Amino acid sequence: MVLGIESSCDETAVALVERGTVLVNTVFSQIELHKAFGGVVPEIASRSHVEVLPGLLKKALAAAGKSWCDIATVAVTYGPGLASSLLVGVSAAKSLATYLEVPLLKVNHLEGHLYSVFMGTEAPAPADACPTLLLLVTGGNTMLVLVEGIGHYRMLGQTLDDAAGEALDKGAKLLGLPYPGGPEIERVAENGNPTAIDFPRGRVTAASHFPKELDPACCFSFSGLKTSLLYHVEKLSPHEVEKQKPDIAASYQEAVFDALIKRTEKGIQKTRPRSLSCVGGVAKNQRLRKMLEELGKRYHLPLYLAPLEYCTDNAAMIAALASAGRGVEVKDKPGLEVDPSLSLL
Ligand code: KG4
Repeated sequence: MVLGIESSCDETAVALVERGTVLVNTVFSQIELHKAFGGVVPEIASRSHVEVLPGLLKKALAAAGKSWCDIATVAVTYGPGLASSLLVGVSAAKSLATYLEVPLLKVNHLEGHLYSVFMGTEAPAPADACPTLLLLVTGGNTMLVLVEGIGHYRMLGQTLDDAAGEALDKGAKLLGLPYPGGPEIERVAENGNPTAIDFPRGRVTAASHFPKELDPACCFSFSGLKTSLLYHVEKLSPHEVEKQKPDIAASYQEAVFDALIKRTEKGIQKTRPRSLSCVGGVAKNQRLRKMLEELGKRYHLPLYLAPLEYCTDNAAMIAALASAGRGVEVKDKPGLEVDPSLSLL
């Protein structure tokens, strides 16, 4: 049985996975703690991880009817993420693995998200879906990756500034909506017209400093869109913003997703994958799911979406990935350090 621990941002998560089956997946979300500040406050996040993690570990074992001795491996997210948050999960994992005398595996958070598409009862076997063109859309990352198999990834493009989730969170803040903004924008956009305002779709061109290995046609940029929303809102009175909020939210959300879809389409044309997939917190969005479905149909590609419970940060994806043989065993347990800017490749 693998114990997974995830604390890279504002969710404290613990999971138990036995031979690839998720026994328990517990997540404590800190949303309520950060709401008043309109975003994640690192000091509050790490303190909350310290307070919550011990109880969550005991709760997970009790829920599965297991004891500490049943843990055969400890897997932990060591990056990317907030340094002070990662440290809490990594410290707990180091101590547990040392005390229980079991292997300690370090797992890349982004690869955990990527693996979530292969989890759940409806999930395809990697061999049936790959090569799959995968769109990873979270609060901290946005990337288009060709997954040729577990551990075999080709990065086609990524965001050059904000992540898609970050763009939605910042947009929501400008509209006076609470954190996290993605689900709020989705809720308000339901009553709005997505074509009411023509927000820019942030095209990326190859500048001299552009990373050689990436294709500009598959890269994302959301900072111009955010500025465009700011200018739009500044021109209006508070009363007008309130009245137009559904239209603004719907148009802004559409601009973010349209950019994602257009780059994904370029990726399809470039790589001719066997299927299409999407993971990460933003993949919870019903409008994005629908747009991806339409794109898949147009190219006769099956679409695989991460199950809703594995879209936002969780430890099940970390433990399951380790269970699938993709964690790196840490020989010097006390020496394991966090890597806040760890990349996928
Ligand atoms: O995957 P996640 O927990 O974050 C990282 O690992 O970085 O995703 C959090 C992000 C936030 O930006 C949040 O606004 C967004 O996912 N999100 C959504 C929805 N639910 C969460 N965005 C759009 N629509 C949703 N329903």
